[in-house]
Amino acid sequence: MKSKPILLAVDDQPQNIELLEAFLVPQGYDVLCACSGEEALAKLGENAIDLILLDVMMPGMDGFEVTRRVRENLSFRLLPIILVTALRDKDDHIKGIEAGCDDFLSKPIDRTELLARVRALLKVKAYHDLLNDYQRKLESDIATRTQELHQALADTKAASLEIIHRLSTATECKDETTGNHICRMSHFAAAVARQLGLDEAAVELILYAAPMHDLGKIGIPDRILLKPAKLSPLEWEIMKKHTLIGAEILKDSEIELLRVGEAIARTHHEKWDGSGYPAGLRGVEIPLYGRIVAIADVFDAMTSARPYKETFSVEEALDKIREGRGSHFDPDVVDAFFEILDEIRAIKQQYESSELQEAEMLAFRMLLSQYRENTSQSFPAQ
Ligand SMILES: [Fe+2]
Repeated sequence: MKSKPILLAVDDQPQNIELLEAFLVPQGYDVLCACSGEEALAKLGENAIDLILLDVMMPGMDGFEVTRRVRENLSFRLLPIILVTALRDKDDHIKGIEAGCDDFLSKPIDRTELLARVRALLKVKAYHDLLNDYQRKLESDIATRTQELHQALADTKAASLEIIHRLSTATECKDETTGNHICRMSHFAAAVARQLGLDEAAVELILYAAPMHDLGKIGIPDRILLKPAKLSPLEWEIMKKHTLIGAEILKDSEIELLRVGEAIARTHHEKWDGSGYPAGLRGVEIPLYGRIVAIADVFDAMTSARPYKETFSVEEALDKIREGRGSHFDPDVVDAFFEILDEIRAIKQQYESSELQEAEMLAFRMLLSQYRENTSQSFPAQ
C-alpha cells in the first residue's frame, strides 16, 4: 500500500513544475514530473498515479489531447485530471470538460486553491478506489464460492452415480449376466440416444439410468433367477415381475435420474407391437428411454456368454434385431442402432469382460450359492 499519494505534474516549462513541487511536496505528496504529453502518458503506464496536473498549452500534444488519450484507457476512467491553464476562454473550458478533465486551475497558480482542489479530488479518488477494491473482493469471493458450489455439486453427482452403479452391479451379481453387461448396454443406449438426436443432458440421463433396468431382480427368488433350466409358466410370470419391482423401488422420486430409471425398469421389456410385458404397451406408449434400452439390453444379452443360455455371434444378433424391427423394437431406434454400428462394435470391444472378471464373477456366484444353501439349511424357507 502506498504511503503517499503520487501526483503527476505535466508542463513544458520547468519553472512551473518547480512551483508545483514547492507547493505540493511539503504537504506530503510525491510529485512525478513530465515535460510533454508523450512523457506524461509513458509515466502514467509505469506508476500508480493518483492525480494529474496538466498544462494545456504545450508543444506537440496539448493538454486536451493528453486528457482524451488518458480517458481512452478504461483503467484511468476515474483518474482525477486538473487542467492548468492561462486561458480564461469559456470555449476552452468546455473543450477541457468534453475531453474528460475534472477541474481547472488558472495561472498564475494560487497555492490555497491548488491544495484545496487536489485534496478534494484525491478524496473522491480514494472513495472510488475503496469501492473498486470492495467490488473486486466481492467478485473474487463470489468466484471462489461458485467454484466451491460447483465442486460440491460435482462431488454429490459423482457420489450419486457411483451409488447407482454399485447398486446395479450388486443386482447383476445375483443374475447370470457377465461382468461388464451394464457398462456395455448403458453405453449402447447412450450412443443410440445421441444418434436419435436427443440432447446431451438426455443422453447422460440414459447413460446413468440404464444400469438400473434390472434392479427389480433383487426381489426375484434365487431358485427362479438362477434356475439352470427353462422356467415353468408360473416361474416365468414371477420373473417378469422384476420390471414392476424395479419400478416400485425407484418410484415417486424427485430426482430426474431416478424417474428415468423407473421408466426404464418398468418398460424395457415392452415391445413395439404390444406383445411385451408388464403392461403390453405398444408403439409410442412405451417411453423412448424404454424403447432405447430394450435394444441395448437385448443385443448385449444375445452376444454375451451366459451359463445355460444360447449365445449368438454379433452378426446373428444383428439379424435378430433386424427381424425385430417394427415388432419387438421401435423401427426408428433400430435404424439409429444400425447407423452407428461401428460405434456399437467399438463399445462392445472396449467393455468386453476379461477372463479374469468372468472368473471372479463365477467364483463370487459359487460362494453366494454355497452361502444360500447353508443359510436355507439353518433357516428353512417358510
Ligand atoms: Fe430385464
